[in-house]
Amino acid sequence: MQTITITKTANPKQKPDPAKMGFGNYFTDHMFLMNYDAGEGWHNPRIVPYGPIPLDPSAMCLHYGQEVFEGMKAYRNAEGEAVLFRPDRNMARLNISNERLCIPLVDEKLAVEAVKQLVAVDEDWIPQGKDTALYIRPFIIAVDPHLGVHPAEHLLFMIIMSPVGSYYKEGINPVKIFVEQEYVRAVKGGMGFTKTAGNYAASLKAQEKALKNGYSQVLWLDGVERKYIEEVGTMNVFFKLGDEVITPSLEGSILGGITRMSSIQLLESKGISVSERRLSLDEVVAAADRGELMEAFGTGTAAVISPIGELIVGDRHIVINNNQIGPVAKMLYTELTDIQNGRIPDPFGWVVKVRG
Ligand code: COI
Repeated sequence: MQTITITKTANPKQKPDPAKMGFGNYFTDHMFLMNYDAGEGWHNPRIVPYGPIPLDPSAMCLHYGQEVFEGMKAYRNAEGEAVLFRPDRNMARLNISNERLCIPLVDEKLAVEAVKQLVAVDEDWIPQGKDTALYIRPFIIAVDPHLGVHPAEHLLFMIIMSPVGSYYKEGINPVKIFVEQEYVRAVKGGMGFTKTAGNYAASLKAQEKALKNGYSQVLWLDGVERKYIEEVGTMNVFFKLGDEVITPSLEGSILGGITRMSSIQLLESKGISVSERRLSLDEVVAAADRGELMEAFGTGTAAVISPIGELIVGDRHIVINNNQIGPVAKMLYTELTDIQNGRIPDPFGWVVKVRG
């Protein structure tokens, strides 16, 4: 494996007040960089002081969106050691995104090592306090100074980190979700299963509309029939209809979330099977009419578990579980955050120490 060089800052920054951090507003003292040049491959992995990067105005990522990213978190366990949650899965997914966007694959072990070393350097930035973590954002951009449309020959892999609180201001309290029936996010054959900037750009218009009306996020339907449930803005989504826990199957237009995967494994370890299948909005509404829409919640790295208290479908406001967090969402939130923060043993081998 290539050696990662480390240059430390001479001017460490003041850390933010954990109670006022919000999400993604502050950045740590260091960042990771690695270059790709055709003929040379990925090279020069390095940790340097955090700061602006030189970028030619013609850099291809700025024009054609050849970019991928990941989201993961570092925590402190009960012994105060810095830990990561399933970093290997993030880097495997990064390469899934890379493959779709014609970005040269990265060495997943080196990428995990880069995260570990960066977190170790900025360990003091892991915030203390309920519902806080150090959010880690690996990303790759195409930097060729060129306006033709073709896969880049020069790229930059970076990792930056931000101490964060809850993603939604509601925290673990239920959010209101607007079912989007006008705009679509992705279609099969497109890039919906990847973590790339364009998917999030595609979501802004609908999100703005939802926010204006007082809702936190949108629930996307499939882009072809506008019938099947896909995902919520920044999260995968689960419904409990009667006794069945359902999450939309991964068929090419939905992101394969690490929290989604972990939630399914956790539920199954408790004897609760999860149906990964197509789920139509009509089926959810019919279940609500019968009084069988028991729970709904989103799962994601940033948001962790976010209960859905109200679903807005056209003129209808469907209140779920009296706008209270339901037992399945509550159990998942508690177990996941307890495992991540080392408050209970990790029977799955998901938690990885940053040192050693
Ligand atoms: C994450 O959950 O890590 C995400 O990538 C969502 C993000 C766009 C804030």
